Amino acid sequence: MSAFFKLCLLIGAVRAFDSVTNATTDAKNSEICLALYRKSLKSKDMDHDGTHFDGQYPHVFIILGASGDLARKKIYPTLWWLYRDNLLPAKTFFFGYARSKTSIEEIKTKCEPYMKVKPNEASRYQEFWTLNHYLSGQYNNRTDFEKLNQEISQFEKGPIANRLFYLALPPSVFEDVTIHIKNTSMAPKGWTRIIIEKPFGRDFDSSQKLSDHLATLFSETQIYRIDHYLGKEMVQNLMTLRFGNRIFGPTWNRDNIASIQISFKEPFGTQGRGGYFDEFGIIRDIMQNHLLQILTLVAMEKPATCHPDDIRNEKVKVLKSIKPLELNDVVLGQYVGDPQKEGEAKLGYLDDPTVPKDSITPTYALSVLRINNERWDGVPFILKCGKALNERKAEVRIQFEDVPGDIFDGKPKRNELVIRVQPGEALYVKLMVKTPGMAFDMEETELDLTYGSRYSHVKLPDAYERLILDVFCGSQMHFVRADELSEAWRIFTPLLHQIEQERVKPIPYTYGSRGPKEADELLLNNNFTYTGSYKWYKPSL
Ligand code: NDP
Ligand code: BG6
Repeated sequence: MSAFFKLCLLIGAVRAFDSVTNATTDAKNSEICLALYRKSLKSKDMDHDGTHFDGQYPHVFIILGASGDLARKKIYPTLWWLYRDNLLPAKTFFFGYARSKTSIEEIKTKCEPYMKVKPNEASRYQEFWTLNHYLSGQYNNRTDFEKLNQEISQFEKGPIANRLFYLALPPSVFEDVTIHIKNTSMAPKGWTRIIIEKPFGRDFDSSQKLSDHLATLFSETQIYRIDHYLGKEMVQNLMTLRFGNRIFGPTWNRDNIASIQISFKEPFGTQGRGGYFDEFGIIRDIMQNHLLQILTLVAMEKPATCHPDDIRNEKVKVLKSIKPLELNDVVLGQYVGDPQKEGEAKLGYLDDPTVPKDSITPTYALSVLRINNERWDGVPFILKCGKALNERKAEVRIQFEDVPGDIFDGKPKRNELVIRVQPGEALYVKLMVKTPGMAFDMEETELDLTYGSRYSHVKLPDAYERLILDVFCGSQMHFVRADELSEAWRIFTPLLHQIEQERVKPIPYTYGSRGPKEADELLLNNNFTYTGSYKWYKPSL
């Protein structure tokens, strides 16, 4: 049974116990679930650092930056869901650390809107918070970290105890914090794993500096660089689809595929995060990481095994075959308000008070990358992402070449395989059929695998749930390795520098639109055909 299939079972099991109210059954199902998950990882991924998932020993999960946005919106909720579902080792404690003079009670209150606690989970929820502790301290003060170490030690009874540090922090304090962890707070009798969040630098040099710094303190197997898109169901599905099916393999190449589009769209603007966003822009925020990661999974060769390093070796190989991006292969946009609308949509990016009035930071980008290898030579890989667009969507769209030697007077439209990551996970193939009935005509239709109907019994876990559990289990399969990161920056850095040095102006597009029309023109010139003729009829359930 493949590891991925086991993972599906895991998800099924999660759903199964989600609907069961009996606590004993819940615990039992969780055990089955966890055992399956660990087994699914074990064959390919264990023994990186000689340690596995040590269920019976204490684990301390330390959230550095516990008072912040990421901690409140993502990390605490994820830890609670994992705890609720019994997926964490039995003796897991949680330690918040930040500069704020706050308390666990206050953190709890701030997290409340994101925790999604059901009425029947109230006592379990209280139990979760009793395992939480908080310590206030500076990020650049060794004594404070020594104190943190002492406090953590109190929860580490027994011969083995492991520590996980989650750096939910701005990059400006990464260096100090990691030095202090290394000097004062490494697990004295177990493993230590460090989870870090993007941004991993701003460009090739700064990222390399950070990687070099981390490499002096920790081994690569201790570092878990999160790209949460790698925790999404349909992104994880790409390997199974490609390498677990015979039908796709033979057509997955330049002879059959015209172009590949990987897109991310959000229907809202910066929403008060303008200050952060303006420093980075959409290319650094989404394209260089989330979309490029998806590209590598779509384009890589079959790895020798499912071992994380075999997979990551293939991903790096693809990246190495991509030349740095050039400005004429890019369309940049920045949203302006829609005067017809009310509320946020009325405001443009430059109306955000945290954004400088003359900002040229793109909130939309379309780039065409080319992979110089035997499989993909000549096939444009189009990465497209934007904020304040017409819809929320992330998808991979593989457009096949026109049928050669057409006998149907130009009626056949191109086939497309669409892998919709969100919202509503789905996989559909757009294809031609004879129009049902008397006439010998043809029409576009689809083979449709909508997860919401086919797997309605399965509750898909959140990306962070999967990834944090992976860290407990010691699986680096869905984490970014240092060499992947440096290749990713190599591709984007010259363009990013050029944009900044030449102050390349983004094209304005209206809030709620599909983005600048120039992007569609670049698509057309890159072998993507849009006919507008396809109609989808949502099946009635
Ligand atoms: P369409 O042919 O309607 O759209 C194809 C692509 O063209 C999209 O990427 C679209 O959005 C882009 N596009 C739109 N206008 C233009 C233009 N003027 N120039 C260039 N590109 C353009 O097919 P879809 O696959 O999008 O399907 C239509 C609808 O049906 C979707 O909402 C889809 O989710 C739904 N559907 C759902 C299924 C399911 O849930 N299982 C199955 C099949 C369809 P953009 O560029 O803005 O991203
Ligand atoms: C983050 C970006 O990495 O991903 C945000 O920094 C973006 O700008 C978010 O909104 C989108 O994530 P998701 O999972 O909601 O698609």
